[in-house]
Amino acid sequence: MDILFHATGANPEAWLSAFQQAIPGASIRVWQEGDTAPADYALVWKPPAAMLRGRTDLKAIFNLGAGVDAILQLGDALPPGVPVIRLDDAGMGIQMAEFVAHAVLRYFRRLDAYALQNTDQLWRFLKPFDKQSFSIGVLGLGVLGQRIIEALRQFDFPLNGWSRTPKDLPGVHCYSGQDGLDGFLRASRVLVAILPLTPETEDILNCENLAKLPRGAYVINVARGAHLVEADLLALIQQQHIAGATLDVFREEPLPPVHPFWQEPRISITPHISALTLRDDSARQIAAKIQMLQAGLAISGLVDQHRGY
Ligand code: NAP
Ligand code: GLV
Repeated sequence: MDILFHATGANPEAWLSAFQQAIPGASIRVWQEGDTAPADYALVWKPPAAMLRGRTDLKAIFNLGAGVDAILQLGDALPPGVPVIRLDDAGMGIQMAEFVAHAVLRYFRRLDAYALQNTDQLWRFLKPFDKQSFSIGVLGLGVLGQRIIEALRQFDFPLNGWSRTPKDLPGVHCYSGQDGLDGFLRASRVLVAILPLTPETEDILNCENLAKLPRGAYVINVARGAHLVEADLLALIQQQHIAGATLDVFREEPLPPVHPFWQEPRISITPHISALTLRDDSARQIAAKIQMLQAGLAISGLVDQHRGY
């Protein structure tokens, strides 16, 4: 079995060794410009168009992440009829749950405000928030959104969720579709974005939608930077409609040093680390899926290229 590998920004040796261990007997090579020799599978993260163009011999393309926006942007360069498979959790769910639970609890327990008081050596009691009015709304109820919800359940917050198709999750007020968005936003004091980036979800965190959140709301974006209209968030923070934001993803990454977000103490910034692709977990998951495909079995994580995720 021949496997092509390319992952922008990753150490190819470490990945090759993880895949070699997980798929013994396979011949795995790092794709080089001009390599058009046949291959059965491609393992990729942000691949160049030239790697995949015309490769209708591939049995599947495995994306080394959950989000497929970068690969679908290749458009015509993606070989027609070749399935694209995304990572299904593969250790990212627990990381997302940790990250979002931390951000939510930091706001709910006012630790962001106490940290600011620390810098002024200020010993001052802040009125606790009422839990029943501190509802958490999760935009996106897929693999990662549902794992976040599962973690937040432990803390008894009122929970809302929004997805494209209707869902029924225990203890969660589920909204769906464009018609459900307004009610979802008005009912959510904390907004967590964990959507895929598609034409429908780009710019969804804009002034019109963010203004529907209750006054004093918090925004947590762990999905993609292009969901957020950055100037709209800044304006709403300055107007004190939004009390704070935790942002892990940005339109431009790394976030440029001159970006105004760096100067806003109510915005917490991390460098796209809320859920990292774990090499060994991912290699094991992909190896198991290749085995299933070879045996003619159905696998999960198949991307609907028309839908965009
Ligand atoms: P997923 O399983 O495909 O779930 C996507 C969810 O979003 C589904 O519930 C889907 O609705 C919903 N959705 C999609 N389009 C929608 C629309 N137009 N309106 C309403 N809901 C919509 O994806 P996942 O594995 O949870 O991952 C989500 C995203 O997280 C990835 O695409 C990636 O961009 C991001 N991510 C970020 C990091 C990081 O480190 N920051 C790490 C991993 C992933 P249905 O259920 O109705 O289909
Ligand atoms: C990371 O951002 C991913 O999509 O897996």
